Amino acid sequence: MGVKIIGLGASIPLKLVTNEELSKVLDTSDEWITTRTGIKRRHHSSLNETTSYLSYKAGIAALKSVTQADDSDIDTLIVATSTPDRRCPATAPKVATMLGLGKIRAFDINAVCTGFVYALELADALIRSGKSRRLMLLGADVFTSILDKQDRTTYPLFGDAAGAMILTNSDDDNILSTYTGSDGEYEHLITIPDGGTESALRLDGVSKNIFFKMAGKEVFLKAISHMKESVSEVLNLSGLTKEDVDYLVPHQANKRIIDTLTQFLDLNEDQALMSLEEYGNTSAASIPITLARHVKAGTINSGNKIVVTAFGGGITWGAALLRWPDEKINADLI
Ligand code: UT7
Repeated sequence: MGVKIIGLGASIPLKLVTNEELSKVLDTSDEWITTRTGIKRRHHSSLNETTSYLSYKAGIAALKSVTQADDSDIDTLIVATSTPDRRCPATAPKVATMLGLGKIRAFDINAVCTGFVYALELADALIRSGKSRRLMLLGADVFTSILDKQDRTTYPLFGDAAGAMILTNSDDDNILSTYTGSDGEYEHLITIPDGGTESALRLDGVSKNIFFKMAGKEVFLKAISHMKESVSEVLNLSGLTKEDVDYLVPHQANKRIIDTLTQFLDLNEDQALMSLEEYGNTSAASIPITLARHVKAGTINSGNKIVVTAFGGGITWGAALLRWPDEKINADLI
C-alpha cells in the first residue's frame, strides 16, 4: 500500500509587517534583517486569527484543492503546533469540528519547527498500517503570541501561518522515505522557560519567563548539521542520490542556512524553494506553505522528487522525500 498526496492549502493572516515598519519600533534595520536572514516581510495574526482559525482556513483550502473524484472521508486530523489555542486541550479536535469532519481521531503533536515533518512521518505510518484511510495534517503556528515585542533577536524572525496536506491510501506512492530525530540535551536552545509544569511547581503557579527564547548562533550550526544528516538519511532510505532531487523545500528560518543545504545537495539556487522573504519563519507551517506557494505557481510538477527538511526546538530534526503526484492539485494560499 502506498500513500498519496491529494490536497494542499495554506492560510496567511491579513496583516503584513515589513522590515521598515519593524525598524520604527525596534532597534533593527531592513539591512540587518535582509542580510542576516533573507526575510523582507511577515504576516501577523490579528485577534481572531488563532491557530485553530488559520488551521481551519488552510484545511478549507486543502479540501478545495482536491481534484480526484472519490468518496472517502477524512478519518484523522493531526495539527503540528507549538502554539495551540490553549495549553489544554489540543487544538486538533476543535479544527476537526470547525471543518465539519465529524467525530474523527484528532490530536496535536509538538516538535516546534520540525512539527510538519514529524506529522508527515506519523501520517505515513497510520495510512500504511491501515489505521487511517484518509488524513489531513496541518502545520500551524501563531508565534507572535509567544514573542516578546521588545526582543529584536526573535520578533523580526517569525510570522504566523498554517498549511494543510491531505493524504490517502493508494497504489501510487508519493512519500518515498521519512526520517526524524531529537536530542533533549539541547532543549534550552529553543524554549519558553516558564509556563509548563516545571515552572508551575517551582514558581507556585506564577509564570515569569513566558516569552520564546532562541540561542540563534548555536541553533544555526545545529540546524545545518542535522538537516544535512536528515537529507542524507532520506536519500539512503529510498535508494536515491543527490542527482535524483528536483527541489529542496527546507524549513524557512534563514536564507544562509538554506544556501548551505542547497550547496550540500549540489542544487542550483532556483531548486531551493523559498517563502521566507514573504512570510518569515512560520515554524510548523513553513514547509506546507512553501509547497503550496510553489505548487500554485506551477514550479512543482508531477513526478518531481522533493526533499523537505526541518529543524526545531527539542531539539528536533527530520526530512522526507516526496514524489509529486500525477494528478493536479489546485493548491491555494487564502
Ligand atoms: O526555526 C527554528 C530554527 N531556527 C533557526 O534555524 C534560526 C538559526 N539562527 C539564525 O538564523 C541566526 O543565528 C539569527 C538570524 C537568529 C541571528 O543571526 P546571527 O548572524 O547569528 O547574529 P547574532 O545572533 O550572532 O548577532 C549578531 C549581532 C549581535 O550584536 P553584537 O552582540 O555583535 O553587538 C546582535 O545583538 O546582531 C545583533 N542583532 C541584531 N541587530 C539588528 C540581533 N538581532 C538583531 C536585529 N537587528 N534584529
